[in-house]
Amino acid sequence: MVELSIVQFTPGWNVKQQNLQHIKALLRNIKTDIIVLPEFCTTGYSFLSKEEALNASEPSPGDTTQFFSALSVELQAMIIAGFAEKDGDLTYNSALIALPTGQVKVYRKTHLFYKEKLCFEPGNSGFFVVDHPIKDCRVGIMVCNDWRYPEAARSLALMGADIIACPSNLVSTLWGVATPARALENKVYLAIANRCGTEKRFLEDGTEQSLTFNGGSVIYDFNGSPLIYAGKDEEIVLSVSIDPLLTRDKSFNSYNDLFQDRRPDLYKLGCLNNG
Ligand code: ACM
Repeated sequence: MVELSIVQFTPGWNVKQQNLQHIKALLRNIKTDIIVLPEFCTTGYSFLSKEEALNASEPSPGDTTQFFSALSVELQAMIIAGFAEKDGDLTYNSALIALPTGQVKVYRKTHLFYKEKLCFEPGNSGFFVVDHPIKDCRVGIMVCNDWRYPEAARSLALMGADIIACPSNLVSTLWGVATPARALENKVYLAIANRCGTEKRFLEDGTEQSLTFNGGSVIYDFNGSPLIYAGKDEEIVLSVSIDPLLTRDKSFNSYNDLFQDRRPDLYKLGCLNNG
């Protein structure tokens, strides 16, 4: 069995050290195997320009990846956390995957949302799955708005993910309609760590931008049923015991197998107007 945890809290805007200490306090003495934190959990979300994103972002390796790497080694848990990543003069909306071995990998969000498009590059890491170094368990990573693209979760499942970890900063409630299906249609666990709270920024024209994040962080089982979930505003760490091996047999009766029954020869998943 694997202990899977999600963290929901309100990061302060652009106060990285404060956020890192907050995260450390939330995770003090936790005994778990996998921890999923929200998107941009060290900086807050509301970037308005490339320059702001560049100022707040960090290379990998850097102080933020080193912080989570040390915490991962100390807790002997895989940690998945959203952060603003710098690569030269480009920035990405990324999730780091810190392993108890000290290794760190980085996923760069594929499908950017709203003003992220003004500030960050579309991710170029592609989707990938990470083996847990201690448990028999494979974790695929996507970030927030990737939920709208069933290809993302499907790609991860086809690569062998047992669990999809999804650091998030969700502002609508629509995601609750589709995300259980991402788990069910791929027969994987899905762990969504959302943030809560409201973030306000003043825009150049003097108006205020106010974004309220919806909380409701959740872990779905492989039939799309919520195993555990948070309220809208609460700061909380939730954990549940799961069996990743149960996701590997994709049959759902004696005639049907989710993956064997696929008909890729009939699917149109390329460009628009591809015939
Ligand atoms: C989102 O992708 N942060 C909604």
